[in-house]
Amino acid sequence: MTTTEPLDVQPTPLALLLLGREADPRSERGVDCPGDLPAASDPDLVERARAAKAKLGEKVFILGHHYQRDEVIEFADVTGDSFKLARDAAVRPEAEYIVFCGVHFMAESADILTSEAQAVILPDLAAGCSMADMATAEQVAECWDVLTDAGIADVTVPVSYMNSSADIKAFTGRHGGTICTSSNAKRALEWAFGEGEKVLFLPDQHLGRNTAVRDMGFSLDDCVIYNPHKPGGGVTVDQLRAAKMILWRGHCSVHGRFSLDSVEDVRARIPGVNVLVHPECKHEVVSAADQVGSTEYIVKALDAASTGSAWAIGTELNLVRRLAKAHPDKQIVFLDKTVCFCSTMNRIDLPHLVWTLESLADGNVVNRIQVDKDTEHYAKLALEQMLALP
Ligand code: 13P
Ligand code: SF4
Repeated sequence: MTTTEPLDVQPTPLALLLLGREADPRSERGVDCPGDLPAASDPDLVERARAAKAKLGEKVFILGHHYQRDEVIEFADVTGDSFKLARDAAVRPEAEYIVFCGVHFMAESADILTSEAQAVILPDLAAGCSMADMATAEQVAECWDVLTDAGIADVTVPVSYMNSSADIKAFTGRHGGTICTSSNAKRALEWAFGEGEKVLFLPDQHLGRNTAVRDMGFSLDDCVIYNPHKPGGGVTVDQLRAAKMILWRGHCSVHGRFSLDSVEDVRARIPGVNVLVHPECKHEVVSAADQVGSTEYIVKALDAASTGSAWAIGTELNLVRRLAKAHPDKQIVFLDKTVCFCSTMNRIDLPHLVWTLESLADGNVVNRIQVDKDTEHYAKLALEQMLALP
């Protein structure tokens, strides 16, 4: 039975065009790709990518995040969520080049976790993450001063989502914290509450709140929002002292657009539908869903689902479309028709991949992502703490 709704939403060319125009050193985005890219209309792109990859052989290892386009995923040696890819980055020490088809913070983490001899490459430097940009090193240092002045820094453990810059990961390592991803946030918080009395959760307020309240039994009143754009974070010292979870005011612009209405609407349209969403969605959406999990969790849940079952998925559209194609025996729909692709994930396309692979095959290392030594040292402490979580 094939009851899959057509998932034919197209990316917005305008959004893709605007990103990458202006250089902003404080942002992961907005850096033009320096390459002389092949035309997107070149009919030989697939052949060229195959030939360059074959020429590179064991020297290259291509990682693909689940949100990448089909045309890119086709060339990935491994696919996964942020956690799996962070681990997988380190499993091919013989590969000289790690081509990371994902976004900037993922490539930085791969650079931190791989050897000096390996070069991590991001095929388009403008593939950043708007959520990661919502916490800068200066803002976080200021926040720590606020917590220090409130007398609570000593009992606060930073837990930073993988979707953050290497600077924020280094801050986390310097202050005895851990990194987490959407697949281990509960374990990270359990560990952190064994180390201290409070958690500063950066930069995704939704993942922090959803994990604490939905998975660990905290109340919404245990959470307070720290707004980096307001003096003192926009909260009183008493509020900070009373809180268990201090949530940074950051969010994902893609997942932030799923609403409670979209959950209610799909339940009315498809009786018996299973609503499965990513934990970056708002608390009210996650509370109304049947299941919540990382992109890898979503892939596995649909692999295990029974024939004929119906699913509404609240995550990025490239992944949902691929899942719908891969499971024609199940009804798989996008939770909200108006939500778009992650435009920065979509920056990595076949022309960028061909340009990257052909450059490497010619001995030119392009778009290398390299974290400086000091940042790397402390960021690695926090990443290794995550990898060692029970
Ligand atoms: P996952 O770790 O679930 O792959 O999520 C990464 C991400 O950026 C989601 O927006
Ligand atoms: Fe960042 Fe959201 Fe895109 Fe994930 S989906 S990379 S959190 S903007």
